[in-house]
Amino acid sequence: MPEATNSRLRQPHLETARCIVRPALPTDLATLLAAVQSPLFPRRLPLAQMAMSDELAPWLARMCSRSSEGSAFLWSIDLRDEARCIGQISLSPKPGSTAWALAFWLDPTHWGRGIAAEAVSRVNDAAFSLLSMQELWAGVALWNQRSFTTLERLGFRLLGVHSSGYWVAGEPEPIREYHLTRQQWQDNGKLHGA
Ligand SMILES: CC(C)(COP(=O)(O)OP(=O)(O)OC[C@H]1O[C@@H](n2cnc3c(N)ncnc32)[C@H](O)[C@@H]1OP(=O)(O)O)[C@@H](O)C(=O)NCCC(=O)NCCS
Repeated sequence: MPEATNSRLRQPHLETARCIVRPALPTDLATLLAAVQSPLFPRRLPLAQMAMSDELAPWLARMCSRSSEGSAFLWSIDLRDEARCIGQISLSPKPGSTAWALAFWLDPTHWGRGIAAEAVSRVNDAAFSLLSMQELWAGVALWNQRSFTTLERLGFRLLGVHSSGYWVAGEPEPIREYHLTRQQWQDNGKLHGA
C-alpha cells in the first residue's frame, strides 16, 4: 500500500470518452448541493445527511485539501459537452485496513447512461496503475441496488454484509461490502501496460 501521506501521491487528472474526471474544487459546492438535494437523491446516504446539517461545505473543503496532500482523493466529473460537476468519486484510506474506500455519486438527471461506470472504471484503473493501491473497498446500503449493479459491472466482488456500515440519524445502516484487489483487476485484463 502506498503511504497515504506520501507527498509523491499526486492526484491524476483523468479522461474518458464522455467525461473529464478532475480534482474537485471548493467551487463545486453549488452543483454538489443541487444534486444531493434532488428529491431523487437517496436521503439515507452520508452526503444527503451532511447536506441537511450544513456539513457539506466543510467536508468539500477538507477533501480538496486532503486531495492536494495525497492523503485522500476527491474527483469531480465534468461532461465533455460542458456540464460541470455532475458527480464525484472519492478514494479514502479505510481505517484499520490497507484498502482504500471508494464512493461515488451522480446527479440523478444523469443516471441510467453508464456515466458512473465509465468514470469510476477510469478511477479504478488510476488507483492501481498510477497510485499503486493494492485493494479497493466499497460499502453500499442494502437498499442501494443501482450502486451494487455499478460495482458488480466494474468487477467488484461481494465480501459479505455488515450490520452497521454507517450511521444515519442515530441508527445503524446495514451494508453490503465489496472489494476489488489488484490481482482481480489484473485478471480482469485491466493492466494496460501500467
Ligand atoms: C450509484 C449511481 C452513481 C449509479 O448511477 P447509474 O447511472 O445507475 O450507474 P451506471 O453509470 O453504472 O449506469 C448504468 C445504467 O445506465 C444504462 N446505460 C445506458 N447507456 C449505457 C452505457 N453506454 N454503458 C453502460 N450503461 C449504460 C445501463 O443500462 C444502466 O441502467 P439501468 O440501471 O437502468 O439498467 C447513482 O445511482 C447515484 O448517484 N446514487 C446515489 C449515490 C450512491 O448511492 N452512491 C453509492 C455509494 S458508494
